[in-house]
Amino acid sequence: MILAFDTSCDDTSVALYKDDKIYSNVVSSQNDVHAKFGGVIPELAARKHAEVIAYLTDEALDRVGSDLKDVNHVAVTVGPGLLPSLLVGLSFAKALAYANNLPIIPINHIEGHIFAPFFNKYIEYPFLSLVVSGGHTHLFYVKNFGNYELVGKTLDDAVGEAFDKVARVLGLEYPGGPVIDKLSKNGNPYQFRIPKGLENDKSFNFSFSGVKTHVKNLVKKLDGLSKTQIMDIAASFQKASIDVLIEKTVRAAKELNVKIVSVSGGVSANSYLREAFKKASEKHAFTLVLPEKEMTTDNALMIAFTASLDVNRATWEYAKIEANPSLRLF
Ligand code: KG4
Ligand code: ZN
Repeated sequence: MILAFDTSCDDTSVALYKDDKIYSNVVSSQNDVHAKFGGVIPELAARKHAEVIAYLTDEALDRVGSDLKDVNHVAVTVGPGLLPSLLVGLSFAKALAYANNLPIIPINHIEGHIFAPFFNKYIEYPFLSLVVSGGHTHLFYVKNFGNYELVGKTLDDAVGEAFDKVARVLGLEYPGGPVIDKLSKNGNPYQFRIPKGLENDKSFNFSFSGVKTHVKNLVKKLDGLSKTQIMDIAASFQKASIDVLIEKTVRAAKELNVKIVSVSGGVSANSYLREAFKKASEKHAFTLVLPEKEMTTDNALMIAFTASLDVNRATWEYAKIEANPSLRLF
């Protein structure tokens, strides 16, 4: 049984994983703490993690009727993320592991996202993995467990960050992704022409920084927005950003001759993305693997599950495990 922690950003999460039947995943969201600032404040995030992590650990154990004696490994996210946040989870994991004489499996948060869609599913290699979250927009060619090649990435903002920034410009709440998703359902995606960053570029890289500026200028020009205009801008922005992700991923799958494509990270919760990717998978004949909704945004179950794929990574040399805010996977 693996007990896992993820405190990489603004959600505190503790999970237990034994097999496809025995697991728990407890997440405490900090959205209300950061909403009034329109983004995550690292110091506040760390304080909140420290406040709740012990309670969440009890809850994760209680949910499967286990206690610490049943745990064989501790897994913890060591990066990338916000340093003050990462340190809370890592310090807690080390203390708990030391007190209970357990080895620790350090996990890269992005690797957790890559495997989240495969939770309790058969993993077939190679596959193409699109990780889309508030901090990342990465396209990986996954040859095997631990063998990742970066195919493309954003050259500036992450796509989730673009959702959050555009929402702010439209006067909507934080985080912007879920609210833009909801409003877009009643908006006309063809009403406004929103540019697709690096659309005609031959690489598999992305760019989302121009979109925010475009929407900002559009809002200024319109000088006061009606509810309909907000919904139309949301839908037009959502379609432009998601379509370019899909077009490039499909082109990469064809060029690399990969038949399995997975999508993960907070933005993979987006309903338009899920629907449009399903259509693309039928049209272009590839297998699409999407995570359960609760495994899209940050959670510790994806960390526990990823740790379970190679427990030989476990170590008792706690002093060598360090938090690294810019930890790379490739
Ligand atoms: O994976 P995640 O929880 O945290 C990071 O590692 O960044 O992703 C959070 C991001 C936020 O930018 C949020 O706006 C976005 O995921 N998000 C969505 C949706 N739900 C969350 N974006 C679009 N549509 C959604 N339904
Ligand atoms: Zn994440």
